[in-house]
Amino acid sequence: MDLGAMLKGKRVLVTGASSGLGENFARESARCGAKVVIAARRRQRLDALADELRQLGAPDVTVLEMDVASEASIDAAFAKIDATGDPLDVVVNNAGVSSAGRAMDMPTADFDSLMAINVRGVWLVAVQAARRWRDAGRGGSIINIASIQGERVAPGITPYSTSKAAVVHMTKSLALEWARHGIRVNAIEPGYIGTEMTDEMWDTEYGQALIKRIPMRRLGKPEELNGLFLLFATEAGSWMTGACVPVDGGHLCSAL
Ligand SMILES: NC(=O)c1ccc[n+]([C@@H]2O[C@H](COP(=O)([O-])OP(=O)(O)OC[C@H]3O[C@@H](n4cnc5c(N)ncnc54)[C@H](OP(=O)(O)O)[C@@H]3O)[C@@H](O)[C@H]2O)c1
Repeated sequence: MDLGAMLKGKRVLVTGASSGLGENFARESARCGAKVVIAARRRQRLDALADELRQLGAPDVTVLEMDVASEASIDAAFAKIDATGDPLDVVVNNAGVSSAGRAMDMPTADFDSLMAINVRGVWLVAVQAARRWRDAGRGGSIINIASIQGERVAPGITPYSTSKAAVVHMTKSLALEWARHGIRVNAIEPGYIGTEMTDEMWDTEYGQALIKRIPMRRLGKPEELNGLFLLFATEAGSWMTGACVPVDGGHLCSAL
């Protein structure tokens, strides 16, 4: 089964496409010949990526400035997608931020702003896509980017872990609600992967100790998520919904 070929010609929206894992999912989609819609706040980065995606083989690339913390911004972005007359097939809910700091020292506003992006943003984007698929009488695939932090916890990142656990539960609950419409909702739970979100950590003593606790003793690479991404995105995963699958070098199996 050629999963890449199965994505050819499909239209894939990737949120948070301006760096890291989002950029990777956009590139993989382009390599497969999918039409790619890339969304984030940093327009210049998206424009540069769009050129690269066309060179990689994407037959169509749409750039959208979208802040997932703002419902109005999401509405406006979906209106632009509607205006193209070309519906989405796959939505990758990837935009996210991390938190650092002890709960007792954290301003409430920091908790609220993280939840607005990592939980409410995922919800709003999923609902916008699903309403359109339901109204058109067709299905679609939503892929939420959760984290191994949605399954277990680590010190000093309570809002982040809480948000990812919410995404895991949201994935299962929306899968249950939307299966009747042919809409599949699954989640990838990445372990630690070197991106801008985590880069500062790996040269520290804490970061090095953390890598030693990963059974495979190394960080992941963004492209190591692509097998699962393609499975969830295409008909190869047609009977998969509500699945939240770790890709983490065995980190969730590490000894207690
Ligand atoms: N790297 C890891 O080890 C790891 C592990 C598990 C899960 N994850 C998850 O993977 C996803 C991507 O993270 P990453 O590692 O690739 O981090 P990253 O390089 O920092 O990328 C985060 C992306 O999210 C976008 N974003 C942040 N706030 C946004 C907002 N309000 N509206 C729209 N886009 C927003 C950013 O774009 P703009 O700033 O341009 O808007 C950026 O493109 C996140 O959900 C993260 O939690 C990462």
